[in-house]
Amino acid sequence: QATVEAAIDAFADGQPVLIHDFADREGETDIVYPATAVDSEAVARLRNDAGGLICVALSDAVSDVFGLPFLQEAVDHPATGDHTLAYDERSSFSLTVNHRETFTGITDVDRALTISELGNAAATVDAAETGYDESDFVAAFRSPGHVHLLRAAPNLLADRVGHTELGIALADAAGCPPAVVVCEMLDDETGGARSPTDAESYADRHGLVYVEGEALLAALGG
Ligand code: 5RP
Ligand code: CA
Ligand code: ZN
Ligand code: ZN
Repeated sequence: QATVEAAIDAFADGQPVLIHDFADREGETDIVYPATAVDSEAVARLRNDAGGLICVALSDAVSDVFGLPFLQEAVDHPATGDHTLAYDERSSFSLTVNHRETFTGITDVDRALTISELGNAAATVDAAETGYDESDFVAAFRSPGHVHLLRAAPNLLADRVGHTELGIALADAAGCPPAVVVCEMLDDETGGARSPTDAESYADRHGLVYVEGEALLAALGG
């Protein structure tokens, strides 16, 4: 599929890709970047042009090395007891973090540091035999923080078809470390999810690739 190829090439080049999941799932389009490619301008684009929640998705293997739980299992509060969702079996939320060299953690520069260093840490884990372990993660990041972590399912698209898994599957195909930043595109007029047509025209105007979850699933889901 030509669009999937274009998405892989763009991602490998450090460009953002717009991913719409499925009309019968969230029905959202996320702007997705390889975490290692994120600078303060990228964070500004995410909060100004996407407007949703800025999260970093990590592969199951990297999450294991970092020691990351699912938030609903880690937090002992009755609100986490029933986590029924309308669009999926479960959420992928894990901890929130800041890099330890940030000040408040929320500024564009601070979030760019947290996100890009998560990407670098994931790359280090991914390069086998580096010995990176949970204590290295703890030395670099504190929780709570201002970047939400998402933990991908072990078999990616075979297990779950959220932006968490779509983004990590795209990173794998592009040869990027298994850490991607995602943020939902919201509509400034309605406050709802930005429509696929609108998201695609944003992509066209900015020379970015827009791809359907269906196309990624067909190409990378096996
Ligand atoms: C966190 C979310 C987003 O939808 C994000 O895309 C990750 O979730 P999922 O993997 O369920 O699509 O809710 O802001
Ligand atoms: Ca806006
Ligand atoms: Zn999503
Ligand atoms: Zn969402």
